[in-house]
Amino acid sequence: MSLLTVADLSVAYGRIQAVQGVALDIAAGSIVTVIGANGAGKTSLLNAVMGLLPARGEVTFRGEAMARCPTEKRFSLGMSLVTESRDLFTTMSIEDNLILGANRCGRREIVQRMAEVFARFPRLKERSTQLAGTLSGGERQMLAMGRALMARPQLLMLDEPSLGLAPIIVREIFHIISDLRDNGVAILLVEQNARAALQVADYAYVMELGLVTMDGPASQLAGDPRVIESYLGFGGADTNTA
Ligand SMILES: Nc1ncnc2c1ncn2[C@@H]1O[C@H](COP(=O)(O)OP(=O)(O)OP(=O)(O)O)[C@@H](O)[C@H]1O
Ligand SMILES: [Mg+2]
Repeated sequence: MSLLTVADLSVAYGRIQAVQGVALDIAAGSIVTVIGANGAGKTSLLNAVMGLLPARGEVTFRGEAMARCPTEKRFSLGMSLVTESRDLFTTMSIEDNLILGANRCGRREIVQRMAEVFARFPRLKERSTQLAGTLSGGERQMLAMGRALMARPQLLMLDEPSLGLAPIIVREIFHIISDLRDNGVAILLVEQNARAALQVADYAYVMELGLVTMDGPASQLAGDPRVIESYLGFGGADTNTA
């Protein structure tokens, strides 16, 4: 069953058409990736789905039309977005950042959810009182994901989670992404690291200049010569560098 359906979605900044008539579908509990070069429109697409940008077209989440739904409502229905900039409260501790991610729940529930996040990200537990602004890049990404998970989303959207991270941390993050899917969380993953994204995803879309130019099962796209040439470089999809 579809959790999220996007139909004919367009985003414009003045005369710049960043997203043009994009259609996309995410089944509950699956990982869908959108890959594409700089400026392809990936971030604009995520922001439009989250209701952070005005857009034309349709976004349907859990069977409900999102047209007049503000971001807070989309969030409380079960959508979470981890932005490219991670948006942490840098002068607050890890713990306080996590508390702010829990939407409308009592103390006991917060304690329970935080324990789950700490079980998933043991590094955050070790540093729970450390200020977010002093964390390494990988720890920041983990905190941003942990904060999003505090809301128990059904759909977690991740904008370039591997950006600027060392390969070993990228592997860890992708392992967590795959584990979240196995626990029923659907993931919409925007990545420039196409190799890692196609390895973890079930289904993939390629965006170029605002348009979806290809889509298909991730394993199929990973073997497509056009994808290999433009996004994977030499060596094809089976070289394990994620
Ligand atoms: N606030 C804005 N005002 C004007 N143009 C914008 C704005 N934000 C994005 N754009 C333009 O929209 C296009 C798509 O940008 P977007 O950030 O969505 O791409 P992206 O695929 O996420 O790129 P990247 O991989 O570099 O993050 C680009 O041409 C960009 O310059
Ligand atoms: Mg972007």
